[in-house]
Amino acid sequence: MTKNIGVLVGSLRKGSYSKQVAKVFSTLFPEEYHISFIDINGLDIYNQDFDDEGNVPENWKTFRNAIGKMDAILFVTPEYNRSVPGVLKNALDIGSRPAGSSVWNAKPAAIVSVSPGAISGFGANHHLRQSLVFLNMPTVQQPEAYIGNVTKLLQEDGSITNPNTLQFFQSIVNAFVELIEKNS
Ligand code: FNR
Repeated sequence: MTKNIGVLVGSLRKGSYSKQVAKVFSTLFPEEYHISFIDINGLDIYNQDFDDEGNVPENWKTFRNAIGKMDAILFVTPEYNRSVPGVLKNALDIGSRPAGSSVWNAKPAAIVSVSPGAISGFGANHHLRQSLVFLNMPTVQQPEAYIGNVTKLLQEDGSITNPNTLQFFQSIVNAFVELIEKNS
C-alpha cells in the first residue's frame, strides 16, 4: 500500500552533506513509498502565545498540515554543539503543539545523523531520540545510523558509490520500512 514519508533535514546550508545523504536515502525506499522533503526553513520561532491567542502563523499551519499527511518521518541531521540544530528543534516544537494535537503522535520515525567528524553526530542523534520518545514516535533502534567522515563517502555530485555504504543505508531503510508496516 502507498505510504507517504516526510524527510526533514536539520541543515539549511545549500551544500549540506546531510541533505545529500538524505537524497541518497530517498532513492532506497520501495516503489509504493512516496518521499517528500518538508521544508523547515522560514518557520517562525515557536512562541506559545501564538497558539494560546489563536494567532497562528500561516507557515506553522502549512507545516503542521504537511506533517499530518505523512505516514512516517525520516530525520537526517547534522550535529550542532553535540545536539540538534535549533532549526530542527523549532520544527519539532511547532509540530508538537497545541497540547493534545501533536502532528508527530504515533508516526514511525528513523534518525540518521551526519558529520564530517568521526563521532558521527552521536549527540544530535540521541538528543533527537529523547524528544521522539516524548512525542510518542516509534523509532528505528537498529541499525543505528551514525554517518561519520561523510566527506569521504560523498562523490562530488552528491552520490554515494561505495557498495558497502549503500548496503548499510539500505539496511537502515529496510528496518524503517519494517517498523512502518508493523505500525500501519
Ligand atoms: C558544527 N559542526 C559540528 N560537527 C560535529 O560533528 N559535532 C558538533 O557538535 C558540531 N557543532 C557545530 C556547531 C555549529 C554551529 C556548526 C555550524 C557546525 C560541524 C558540522 O558537522 C559541519 O558544519 C557539517 O557540514 C554540518 O552539516 P551540513 O550542513 O553539511 O549538513
